[in-house]
Amino acid sequence: MLLHGKPHRSIWTEPGDPARVCIIDQRVLPFELAVETLTNVESATRAIADMHVRGAPLIGVAAAYGMYLAALESTREDFLRAAAARLKQTRPTAVDLFHALTLCLKSILKMPEGPGRVRVALETADRMAEESVQHCRQIGEHGLPLIENIGKQKGSLPVNILTHCNAGWLACIDYGTATSPIYLAHEAGIPLHVWVDETRPRNQGARLTAFELGQQGIPHSVIADNTGGHLMQQGLVDLVLVGSDRTTRNGDVANKIGTYLKALAAADNGTPFYVALPSTSIDPSLRHGRDIPIEQRDPDEVRYAEGWDGSKIQKVLMTPADSPAVNYAFDVTPARLVTGLITERGICQASEAGILGLFPEWR
Ligand code: MRU
Repeated sequence: MLLHGKPHRSIWTEPGDPARVCIIDQRVLPFELAVETLTNVESATRAIADMHVRGAPLIGVAAAYGMYLAALESTREDFLRAAAARLKQTRPTAVDLFHALTLCLKSILKMPEGPGRVRVALETADRMAEESVQHCRQIGEHGLPLIENIGKQKGSLPVNILTHCNAGWLACIDYGTATSPIYLAHEAGIPLHVWVDETRPRNQGARLTAFELGQQGIPHSVIADNTGGHLMQQGLVDLVLVGSDRTTRNGDVANKIGTYLKALAAADNGTPFYVALPSTSIDPSLRHGRDIPIEQRDPDEVRYAEGWDGSKIQKVLMTPADSPAVNYAFDVTPARLVTGLITERGICQASEAGILGLFPEWR
């Protein structure tokens, strides 16, 4: 998608020097655009754990490039296994990370020790990045008719879509998941307006989704996290579109904390609630959302807020200095509250039958 008017991706290797993996440091967006170069598995591990890169599909692809950087350091099996184990420790909820590492390790270790392992590691990471772009594009194509149909009913009035967190191209490689149908609808000339949940505590909505939409010229308004229910009661939301970090076999959806409350409000108001996700974010090995490990992060992310003071990013305390805080990063929306899952293979019901209908290989 466009960044300052030019097509951009969230991760790439430096042209002419693939040993340098470049990422956008998302911790400083939208105030600064900082490109960081990862040159070893340690820097890739830190980039994922400390959220320089974030979002389920991007975490998976960044880990794959991390395995490539590990292979550049050593192609010994024990070193590569230790690197994968370290990368697995970075974030527990997004299943893309585990899928990517399992696949990378398997592909790399098929080769004998030596340069063949490095080549396969790079090919695997590049292929995952390309597949992610393709999947996100397909999610957009399958989701577009939902917006088109609402648009037809609304005539010249904009379709109002509410989204939570950042399930945009910054969370993926390109297009995004929840944003992909939005981008394609905008391209098709459908009038749109997006309600952007700020998404405390890290404000991925206010900082990243708002930035992305602004870069594409899509009308949007940032709202405080608690506003969605009121907007739905007023008939000001036509569709809720969110992403997912891990969806279980029965269609339960783990996504950024606060998603569940939006799903409850949507169900109460008859507002369609769709989850857009690639198959890499589905965990067919889990039967229920209660089995998904929910990340708990540093309570200081809740106690402090971060913003731009006109020249630099500042952190300010939001609570009494001695008040403890708790920081659950994700919640689980039960399948019964989900209108449908938008995947690269089409839209299905959030149920085991629906998922297996599109992905029969998991039967
Ligand atoms: O903690 P993050 O920022 O890595 O959270 C992940 C997300 O961006 C969202 O939960 C998103 O909706 C799913 S990833 C497309």
